[in-house]
Amino acid sequence: MAQSTSVDLSALQNALRSVIEPDQKKDLVTLGMIENLDVNPNGDVRLKVVLTTPAHPEKTAIETAVREAIARVPGVKSVNVTMDAKVRGANRHVAAGAAPGKGVAAIEGVANIIAVSSGKGGVGKSTVAVNLATSLALEGARVGLMDTDVYGPNIPTMMGVTEQPKILNHPTKGEFFIPPVAHGVKVMSMGFLVDPDQPLVWRGPMLHSVITQFCHQVEWGNLDYLIVDMPPGTGDVQLSLAQMVPVTGAILVSTPQEVAMQDVRKAYAMFDKVRVPMIGVVENMSYFQPEDSDKKYYIFGHGGGKILADKFRTELLAQIPIVPAVREGGDTGRPITVATPGAPTSVAFRTFAKRVAQKVAIMAAEGIDPASIIQIGRFN
Ligand SMILES: Nc1ncnc2c1ncn2[C@@H]1O[C@H](COP(=O)(O)OP(=O)(O)O)[C@@H](O)[C@H]1O
Ligand SMILES: [Mg+2]
Repeated sequence: MAQSTSVDLSALQNALRSVIEPDQKKDLVTLGMIENLDVNPNGDVRLKVVLTTPAHPEKTAIETAVREAIARVPGVKSVNVTMDAKVRGANRHVAAGAAPGKGVAAIEGVANIIAVSSGKGGVGKSTVAVNLATSLALEGARVGLMDTDVYGPNIPTMMGVTEQPKILNHPTKGEFFIPPVAHGVKVMSMGFLVDPDQPLVWRGPMLHSVITQFCHQVEWGNLDYLIVDMPPGTGDVQLSLAQMVPVTGAILVSTPQEVAMQDVRKAYAMFDKVRVPMIGVVENMSYFQPEDSDKKYYIFGHGGGKILADKFRTELLAQIPIVPAVREGGDTGRPITVATPGAPTSVAFRTFAKRVAQKVAIMAAEGIDPASIIQIGRFN
């Protein structure tokens, strides 16, 4: 007969106190990240680890550390760890720290709103937004993608969405859009509303009302991250969005060459005006590397992303090379992160997405670092 062991729950808890969550630098027990800790008389331990995001870059390392810590407790025979996450909104800290104007209201059920911007068009803003959204969804997060680019609403094409959103008549709230889902992401786009052959002239108030609809009359449900593909530049949509909903943070996409001071100054002034914290810069089309060569060709110049990140006193989150499969992914509606998850560029997008999720989690846990919010006079 197998001898029954008795493992003390408190011994297991003590062991778990040796595992430190890298962002908040406290142990998992203190942070309340351990749930359903249980052990049977045979010494089989079960527990759930609840992280701040399913896309945490250290997820595997934390899981391993938990397994090892538990396995070291005398009497333990097996360890069954479930990894889970609860994404908190960083928005309320924005509200507290950055004092947005009147009328800013959260989107019900949406924890974090991340704006993807760029100084000019054609730099890969939509490509970055799409691959950020799909990467987060692949990590198990609940993700929405809102395409507010009135000049080139190409998110439906890039996500391979052919159906229109369904319209539901809510008894009290009026008309509601049910966003189509592609690659695990809920998608809403200006492209659904406008006829590409009948270009519209968008005026401020019209844009404002469409942005209102996109925020409050779309059935987003519960989302961890709502990614917003912005029109290029610093116009009405940016202002409308920031005046309407608490934007968690912005990602700025540029090519290496695009550091024209005039554009940077404009972008800087805009972010300052809307009080949106910077999450970081993505340098896209950084270089081209032929498949059969080690040599990198810096077609659009070198180092621009870093210069831009330094100017904004923020982080260079990623450098994405020029890769034909990235463009093909956009054209065929199967983003590279979905079509070829193992490709180096997909891995680069996934790493970038995890860093974004981690930064947002830190913002939610600690509040926004006021230094991350653009301040007038700090530009040089
Ligand atoms: N890293 C890349 N490698 C190859 N092609 C890219 C890359 N990034 C973007 N593209 C292509 O460049 C074009 C412009 O990108 P897009 O994301 O639409 O830019 P934006 O939204 O800033 O206007 C698209 O055809 C897209 O597929
Ligand atoms: Mg675009």
